[in-house]
Amino acid sequence: MLNLGVIGTNWITKMFVEAAEQSEAYTLTSVYSRKVETGQAFAPTAKIYTNLSEFFDSGIDVVYIASPNSLHFAQAAQAIQHDLQVIVEKSIFSNPTEYEEIYSLLRDHPKAHLFEATRHVHQPNFKAIEAQVAEMPVVSGGTFVYEKYSSRFDAYLAGEEPNVLTREFSAGALTDLGVYPIYAIVKLFGMPKSSHYFATKLANGADGRGTAILRYDGFDMTAQFGKMATSYQHSELLGQKDTIVIDNIAELNEVQYVDGQGNQTTLSHPLTENPMLAEANDFARIINAPAEYADEYREWLLLSQRVNQVLTDLRKSAGIVFPADH
Ligand SMILES: NC(=O)c1ccc[n+]([C@@H]2O[C@H](COP(=O)([O-])OP(=O)(O)OC[C@H]3O[C@@H](n4cnc5c(N)ncnc54)[C@H](OP(=O)(O)O)[C@@H]3O)[C@@H](O)[C@H]2O)c1
Repeated sequence: MLNLGVIGTNWITKMFVEAAEQSEAYTLTSVYSRKVETGQAFAPTAKIYTNLSEFFDSGIDVVYIASPNSLHFAQAAQAIQHDLQVIVEKSIFSNPTEYEEIYSLLRDHPKAHLFEATRHVHQPNFKAIEAQVAEMPVVSGGTFVYEKYSSRFDAYLAGEEPNVLTREFSAGALTDLGVYPIYAIVKLFGMPKSSHYFATKLANGADGRGTAILRYDGFDMTAQFGKMATSYQHSELLGQKDTIVIDNIAELNEVQYVDGQGNQTTLSHPLTENPMLAEANDFARIINAPAEYADEYREWLLLSQRVNQVLTDLRKSAGIVFPADH
């Protein structure tokens, strides 16, 4: 059983802890929070720490980091220096410079492993899409959509600066929601030849919504995402005569394959389990048998690094600079 420590006490950490416990591979032992009371309210039976070094020394094997994006780098770096297994929420780091530093730390600490928590690409319904794409002789393009009005946009409209809509926290629509379609595209097709992001910016310079185009040999993939409006469009991947239709590229509740004659086949299975269970299982499997799953681990790490590069290229094309870039 892996002793789990968590950083961040919001709902997403609660969901991960539930998934981790359902996997029967982890047990929550330690919580880091800025305030003891917040930690106690989050997990009454865990040990609570307000000092990060003491938290990392508390006997945990694995840390799950779900703090605002800009804090991931320093927290993950410290965890790797403690030879821990490190799971970091998307979007993992602010830019490739941070990623390079983390890579060099990982080289010096071979017992440590690093994972980016991007739940959708671990799910069986995503694997069903991958298997279908592998069968399609031609890909002509596609559009992946994840656009959902955020309650935090209400706060922004009321004059506040919610973390998730500020560049100070390496946040905005692209790194918060755009990362889902971008991850799916890069997982399916690898690094694009070029990319561009047309962003709708808020008054504080962060992106509220936008459209990104990733160019591949012979086809383009479009990602539409945002936090200031809601889209009910499906996502689609176009073959030549056939099409994959996805209800939602992040949630993956329903995936249909429509052949050249219009016949529909359901590729997905109903999602009844915690949506973070598949990734929690994958990470535990690799952590518990690192030699056996070394190739798979390297693939996940490479994917994470590629997405980090694409997100940074997209930001640059839209003129979005994070303080962490300096
Ligand atoms: N995979 C998913 O489906 C999913 C969904 C939502 C979010 N996320 C990711 O999870 C991460 C956290 O997102 P979130 O929306 O939960 O962020 P958040 O509410 O802004 O902050 C998360 C936690 O970090 C701590 N925190 C907040 N502000 C801080 C500050 N200024 N300085 C230091 N610590 C601070 C708080 O914990 P304490 O008060 O206990 O210190 C808080 O519970 C992000 O990387 C996000 O992209 C993933």
